[in-house]
Amino acid sequence: MSQTDTQDPQATLAADTAIVRQYLDSALTADRLDPAQQAQYLDPIRQLMAAKNARLVAHYYTSPDLQDLAEASAGFVGDSLEMAKFGRDCDADTLIVAGVRFMGESAKILSPHKTVLMPTLEATCSLDIACPIDKFSAFCDAHPDRIVVVYANTSAAVKARSDWVVTSSIAVDVVEHLLEQGRKIIWAPDKHLGSYIRKTTGADMLLWDAACIVHEEFKVRGLLDMRRVYPDAAILAHPESPAAVLEIADVIGSTTQIINAAKTLDNPQFIVATDQGIFHRLQQVAPDKQFIIAPTAGNDATCRSCANCPWMGMNSLQSLYESLSDGSNEIEVDANLAAKAMIPLQRMLDFAADNQLQVRGRA
Ligand code: 13P
Ligand code: SF4
Repeated sequence: MSQTDTQDPQATLAADTAIVRQYLDSALTADRLDPAQQAQYLDPIRQLMAAKNARLVAHYYTSPDLQDLAEASAGFVGDSLEMAKFGRDCDADTLIVAGVRFMGESAKILSPHKTVLMPTLEATCSLDIACPIDKFSAFCDAHPDRIVVVYANTSAAVKARSDWVVTSSIAVDVVEHLLEQGRKIIWAPDKHLGSYIRKTTGADMLLWDAACIVHEEFKVRGLLDMRRVYPDAAILAHPESPAAVLEIADVIGSTTQIINAAKTLDNPQFIVATDQGIFHRLQQVAPDKQFIIAPTAGNDATCRSCANCPWMGMNSLQSLYESLSDGSNEIEVDANLAAKAMIPLQRMLDFAADNQLQVRGRA
């Protein structure tokens, strides 16, 4: 890196700045339709939503077009758990879940009597893909002395095989609780989140080997370059990022916790290691602060994900309109499986309520 090439601090900073600028210029930004294209879909979508008593529930990583529509139509924008809870508690007949498949499934499990549609059923998650139920079940069977804790980013079948479901905002608290009971743990699927929880709590955790294709690309070396260019910036990282990134982060947290940190910390700038979709909400809650995307590639390498989840990106006004107009892309979860998956999901919700944890804390 440039710092080792020269001893002159000014030259080093200039070289670092050039690298950082090149990266930021090449990073993709959020996909938005222009106002005319938006208008083509917005009125028909609103009419269909009124006719079907439908609400839009969108994740922070989806396009700003969808986030804005959810906000403007008495829907909801939030993290994966908050989305499911909003869906469960609202009085709609139909939920349209803009996010990835496990979010639609969680909504259906928590709201079995509602129709749950998604703009696309193709939107999955690398963690869900890498944890197939047959292999996971065999892994659990091989370690019967361990309690099974799974991340929300899993299929309904994997949830049904677990004892606890957790999200990133509550995972450490749940594992601490299990540790107090002297329990040993199987954790799946995200190895980075798992090793972060293990390091934080000291629990005995056997980790499944999977990663998020977006967060795994954040690079500590690029982050250090960036911090030299923005010395007043705080680094905010999602715990699906690699351990070396988390070690230098100022705040580690779920999407909601990242947003809350941006609101409360005094830093004028934030380097953010999570999906770029979150910038829309970050800019709304802290309009005077600057948000900079963390680097996802080494020097001279091409940006691969550019911190954009390809599956979240499949959600658009157009696909939402198509799903609503013909009732396609409905999420179905086998009733038996849903009843089994509901048990560990409900356990998490009860734990959060009993401990007054901020799993809902809307940003
Ligand atoms: P949250 O649970 O924080 O919404 O995160 C979900 C996710 O997919 C992170 O990559
Ligand atoms: Fe899955 Fe990563 Fe996309 Fe989140 S960002 S949905 S963890 S692939």
